[in-house]
Amino acid sequence: LAARKEGYRYFMEKEIYEQPRVLADILTGRLGEQAVRLDELEADWLRPISSVTLCACGTSYHAALTGSYLLERLARVPARVEIASEFRYREPVLDPNGLFVVISQSGETADTLEAIKLAKAQGLATLALCNVDNSSIVREAERTLLLRAGIEKGVASTKAFSAQVLTLWLLALYWGQARAVLSGERHARELTALRAVLNVMQVQPRVHERLHRLSKRYLHGHGFFFIGRDLFYPLALEGALKLKEISYLHAEGDPAGEMKHDPIALADAELFTIALMARSTFYEKVKSNVEELSARDATLIAITTEDFELADDIIQIRPYDHPMLEFFEMLVVVQLLAMEIAIRLGNDVDMPRNLAKSVTVE
Ligand code: AGP
Repeated sequence: LAARKEGYRYFMEKEIYEQPRVLADILTGRLGEQAVRLDELEADWLRPISSVTLCACGTSYHAALTGSYLLERLARVPARVEIASEFRYREPVLDPNGLFVVISQSGETADTLEAIKLAKAQGLATLALCNVDNSSIVREAERTLLLRAGIEKGVASTKAFSAQVLTLWLLALYWGQARAVLSGERHARELTALRAVLNVMQVQPRVHERLHRLSKRYLHGHGFFFIGRDLFYPLALEGALKLKEISYLHAEGDPAGEMKHDPIALADAELFTIALMARSTFYEKVKSNVEELSARDATLIAITTEDFELADDIIQIRPYDHPMLEFFEMLVVVQLLAMEIAIRLGNDVDMPRNLAKSVTVE
């Protein structure tokens, strides 16, 4: 088994480092000079679709949420997101001309499988984003985009999540092309960012080393807030989920703008706030949310390109002018941070207690 970790301490670590390769595989044959191609879906199949519902569990749900921002922005198609375990019991009213997208690493998650069956029974077009070919969900779906992430061994999903998000970005752009809703300039900007994404996900030794050192300061306290806005809200949720599942510390992800409506009540020096402060996306707004937390004495860890004097610790990231590049850059940071904290606590990060890689029961 050790050999297959190829020198890494855990499969999770290996899978974090593998992400540039996974993203390269996903882009192979799909990223042209002028346009994105997705041979699995004809433009004519997508064009009549009037809305999209994305449905998934856990980390895949966070990818779904990220996808909803991308689909509305780039394809201008109304998008809603559903947690699979809730969806099927609440007598959902679905758009008969809508597309139902399920997202699942394993393709075997019981709640997600039942959700796609329900949507199919109501006559919706269905699409699965799955990492496992011929899985139950793939067999159920009308169309599939395989994730091309390779086998994921760590219970904590890392490379499958980045694969889901990149595939959703491609889908949103492809759909936007089919509907001709993007300006030439906007479209070109997306293609340029897609070409840069591989480099962004390359783990920088400087950053990993910094997170390793930093992690020892954040083993106690009574919890973590991950906060962000827009695309960085699902990323905040994912950062919190990753930390929770392998460190067993309490963590929650919140939209930064919601702080004042309740979570701020928890703020004190023993509450560690990880602020996702993206230069590209409402930086000043997030900053003012973070300032409010600082005024309540919260301990602040800022992931940012900027100097921020209120932060107790800054994790410096590289500057990008595209939100998705900042997203992927910060994703690596939150994955490594969770892993380093969990390793220091002596946990087996590949096999966290109480969790299974795929949840095939309700
Ligand atoms: C992710 O780190 C978790 N292990 C878990 O939330 C997982 O994403 C969820 O169970 C969904 O699994 P799936 O993608 O295989 O459907």
